[in-house]
Amino acid sequence: MSTTVPGLELDDIQSGVLRPRPAPYAATYIALRIDDLKAGQQLMQNVAKVVTSAANPSSPTADTWVSVALTYQGLKALGVPAKSLESFSWEFRQGMAARAKDLGDVGESSPENWEKPLGSPEFHVILVAVSPDAQSLEAALARARKTYEGMTGVVAIWRQDCHALPNEKEPFGFKDGISHPAIEGSGIPGTNPKERPLKAGEFVLGYTDEMGGVQKTEPEFLGRNGTYIVFRKLHQRVADFRKYLKANATSEMDEELLAAKMMGRWRSGAPLALCPLHDNPELGVDSKRNNDFLFQQDDAAGFKTPGGSHIRRMNPRDAEIAGVARIHRMIRRGTAYGPLLPEGVLDDDGADRGLIFAFVGAHLGRQFEFVQSQWINDGIFFGGNNDKDPLVGATQPGESFSVPRRPVRRRLQGMPRFVVTRGGEYGFMPGIRALRWLAGLEA
Ligand code: HEM
Repeated sequence: MSTTVPGLELDDIQSGVLRPRPAPYAATYIALRIDDLKAGQQLMQNVAKVVTSAANPSSPTADTWVSVALTYQGLKALGVPAKSLESFSWEFRQGMAARAKDLGDVGESSPENWEKPLGSPEFHVILVAVSPDAQSLEAALARARKTYEGMTGVVAIWRQDCHALPNEKEPFGFKDGISHPAIEGSGIPGTNPKERPLKAGEFVLGYTDEMGGVQKTEPEFLGRNGTYIVFRKLHQRVADFRKYLKANATSEMDEELLAAKMMGRWRSGAPLALCPLHDNPELGVDSKRNNDFLFQQDDAAGFKTPGGSHIRRMNPRDAEIAGVARIHRMIRRGTAYGPLLPEGVLDDDGADRGLIFAFVGAHLGRQFEFVQSQWINDGIFFGGNNDKDPLVGATQPGESFSVPRRPVRRRLQGMPRFVVTRGGEYGFMPGIRALRWLAGLEA
């Protein structure tokens, strides 16, 4: 197998890696612990049969799939030799809980407060079933359950159900799932015509990346066509967010404009870059136009889209920043959990709601961890001092968010923290051939 071919081996790559999740969606995450090597290998053998590949994106079942990923502890439980284990990325080997300080998971977000068993060494395998609706999800789940049910030596230890909210927005009320990078050789069109497709090696191991390198494991086919995933259960304080908007709205910046300044998009999905003064819901849902913009030429100072807003931090596009944005791109597969807080309600009802944030990429360090630590939890890169992401940052008392304006910027002091980490894991999503190797079937 050559590493320089532009085409990706789609039939060996799991569906969940490249294909955007359906919209609307229903999804379930199931975590498994492997207590016995033989049972673990049997599990991998069963899973290799139900996992769908990224080939044939137009098949009728293309929107429903089961994916599998393993944590470092999971690879160990499957008896993967030390030399192979050491060939995986350093961050993956540490695990998310060990990286907490660097990720801003401190205080109430720190691992000792995480939902069990997230972040514990018994979290070995994660199965994810995704589909457009509850009915087809049930079928996918039944296939997923068959891979481990009735088996001694493999135990289901955690389950998380996710579903599109009735308004098809994320819990704060914004349209999500808009901007995705294009990947060379994937056959899946990108969302921003102004962004050149990224090299496949940014997202899949075994291919050339933007820096000209190729990530390899030992043996090479163990990593090839696989990718790293990050999933984080992020609790969202929706009532606090709404109260904050209400308390800080002014005659010049009403609640909706303030929310848009924090996100960089109106709740409809329409970007401030294209409609800075008024929402344009038609543009918000028009996938041909709603991501077709850059920042530098007509908004270098952030008068339309603040440098500190969520989307401009997460993808500065062509904006002048310290560093190169292209090597920090990521694929996202967020799904909401918990009930919708009904429109207009300003008091917390005590329900747990938020996002299961999911990252897919070949470089945990320079993609997920860099963005989380430098772009979310530090504002130096765009000249924004210590200010954190106003929506998802690990904000400390006394921190602020600046909205550039003429004649003077508006500085919102004392930003509250709206998102708390409930836990998470780093995983490796192997190619289908590698799954069979993990099952002990292929040498
Ligand atoms: C509860 C937490 C979060 C919420 C509610 C949230 C919500 C959103 C929304 C509504 C968008 C705009 C729509 C879109 O382009 O899909 C967006 C974009 C994005 N978010 Fe988040 N997000 C959260 C956490 C994160 C985290 C932790 C990261 C990375 C570590 C992240 C990375 C991104 C990226 C890369 C984009 C696309 C930016 C672009 O290309 O324009 N988000 N997010």
